[in-house]
Amino acid sequence: MNTSIKGKTAIVTGASAGIGWAIAEDLAAAGAKVVVSARRKERLASLVAKIAGGGGTAMAVAADAGDTKQTDELIKKTQNWGGGLDIVVVNAGRGLSGGILSSDQGQWESMYRLNVLGAAYLMRRAGEILCQQGKGDIVVLGSVSGHHISPFSGFYGSSKWAIAGAAEAMRREVCGKGVRVSIIKPGIVTSEFQAAAGYDAESFGAWIKKWGQPLDPVDVARAVTFIVSQPGHVHINEMVLRPTGQDYP
Ligand SMILES: NC(=O)c1ccc[n+]([C@@H]2O[C@H](COP(=O)([O-])OP(=O)(O)OC[C@H]3O[C@@H](n4cnc5c(N)ncnc54)[C@H](OP(=O)(O)O)[C@@H]3O)[C@@H](O)[C@H]2O)c1
Repeated sequence: MNTSIKGKTAIVTGASAGIGWAIAEDLAAAGAKVVVSARRKERLASLVAKIAGGGGTAMAVAADAGDTKQTDELIKKTQNWGGGLDIVVVNAGRGLSGGILSSDQGQWESMYRLNVLGAAYLMRRAGEILCQQGKGDIVVLGSVSGHHISPFSGFYGSSKWAIAGAAEAMRREVCGKGVRVSIIKPGIVTSEFQAAAGYDAESFGAWIKKWGQPLDPVDVARAVTFIVSQPGHVHINEMVLRPTGQDYP
């Protein structure tokens, strides 16, 4: 039997598009008070209005997830607004086409600052609060590319490999204190991700042709809500979620 998340306070980073947007809507529909964060303020304002229009509760906090000071502010504003902190979805992230030889080296640092260091910093700050209260959920967006390194975005995959290791390390640190750290590793999901990563439309089209219907952001969102709605003694550590036709990675 699932546990209600009604009235719980959640943060979702990377909520101005794709998977984060869908997660925020799904958590709000399940009754959580949701703080939506990303850099694009207008997008966040539209999402807050959409959630409110459906009877949910949300607040926008614009922040760069790669900036530790802005992450501190995000947490402070969330606690003041929501009266606590229960669920943190570490979703903001970006891809990068190519491997060690073929990817744009000019983007290495910013990708690692966002996908690994920024994500780990939010996990750490949230973890301190959740450990003190003896309960709460941190859900991290990994990728199948961080599960099996993919031939077309190998260096991005290494960042997701790193954050998966960090999530498991933190799970071991905090599970005895009642805190759950979960990682979801989706296969291909249709979103703004492919364009931002620099995947060319031709190869993307070829994968879709081979694999059939990709995942939709709401497919991932349902999984997040399912994970955080488990009774306190149940922890889904890890979930790999692929389109049915995706063989690899
Ligand atoms: N799509 C896939 O196939 C796929 C598969 C596996 C895993 N994932 C992972 O799922 C997560 C979400 O991806 P998505 O598919 O939803 O991609 P998306 O549609 O491109 O959305 C990315 C989100 O991250 C935010 N973001 C990017 N840089 C940021 C920064 N520096 N600070 C704060 N927010 C930032 C973007 O908002 P702003 O630009 O407004 O800041 C946007 O809201 C990522 O961690 C990605 O690695 C995606």
